Amino acid sequence: MANSKYEYVKSFELSDALLPHTWIVIRIDGKGFTRFSQAHGFTKPNDEQALRLMNEGARAVFEDLPDVCFGYGVSDEYSFVLKKNSKLYQRRASKLVSIIVSLFSATYVMKWGQYFPGKEIQYAPSFDGRAVCYPSDAILRDYLSWRQVDCHINNQYNTCYWNLVQSGSSPTEAQSLIKGTLADFKNELLHSRFGINYNELPPIFRKGSLIFRRKEETVVKVEDGVPVKRLKSQVVVTHEDLIKDRFWKENPSILGTAGSKKSAS
Ligand code: GTP
Ligand code: MG
Repeated sequence: MANSKYEYVKSFELSDALLPHTWIVIRIDGKGFTRFSQAHGFTKPNDEQALRLMNEGARAVFEDLPDVCFGYGVSDEYSFVLKKNSKLYQRRASKLVSIIVSLFSATYVMKWGQYFPGKEIQYAPSFDGRAVCYPSDAILRDYLSWRQVDCHINNQYNTCYWNLVQSGSSPTEAQSLIKGTLADFKNELLHSRFGINYNELPPIFRKGSLIFRRKEETVVKVEDGVPVKRLKSQVVVTHEDLIKDRFWKENPSILGTAGSKKSAS
């Protein structure tokens, strides 16, 4: 290819390749979703349809990028983990972040009508994104545990707050009653004032959403009226604990190890 005198401008493009042999986590977060959720009348504190729509965006990322091995979503954010040895787009941060963010956003809008039939989307949502590398399985698990603990703390606080406000407390009263209180106090408040057993709230609210591939028995064809089943890798979304060892032991293929845990902190 002929060189023009302008070619030199390429030298201004710096490499943004992420550190090799580390877990890459791309976390995306809805821009101004406090306003977006109000503009679209999302149920407070959790809108199940909105959360399921986020999971649909994550599913599209999984289907497009086989190197994404795990995802965790809560509220307006999603974290995607790329395999430690991934060479996708030479591990270039800007490529990976921009592809995930745009695919997720486009899917969110495309599938909106399925989750909010009859409710028109008022304006285009957008998501920011960042890439962070984690050098060990233990630190990656601590990162994911951090997000799930955050989900729990926020959900417990928001469930108390909105029940108080919806039952007549002013936002200031609700805030001052629960600010700085321990989990037991909030559980007791929910139970005694509103008859809510926190642990019986839907797991999608309490645990967030985990997305990963799992081998499942699937009907591949029907022969003479008999279903023929095969083990096939399926993308599944669950709402379970990822902090304890159990999940990683049950799904060792995600991290490619037995998933033994030693906290890095
Ligand atoms: P930036 O991310 O900094 O742009 O701000 P943000 O307004 O998106 O706030 P942030 O990401 O910190 O928090 C997400 C916000 O989205 C929450 O505070 C809620 O207001 C809103 N949100 C997310 N999920 C739900 C939901 O299921 N129901 C309702 N009602 N609101 C939600
Ligand atoms: Mg946000």
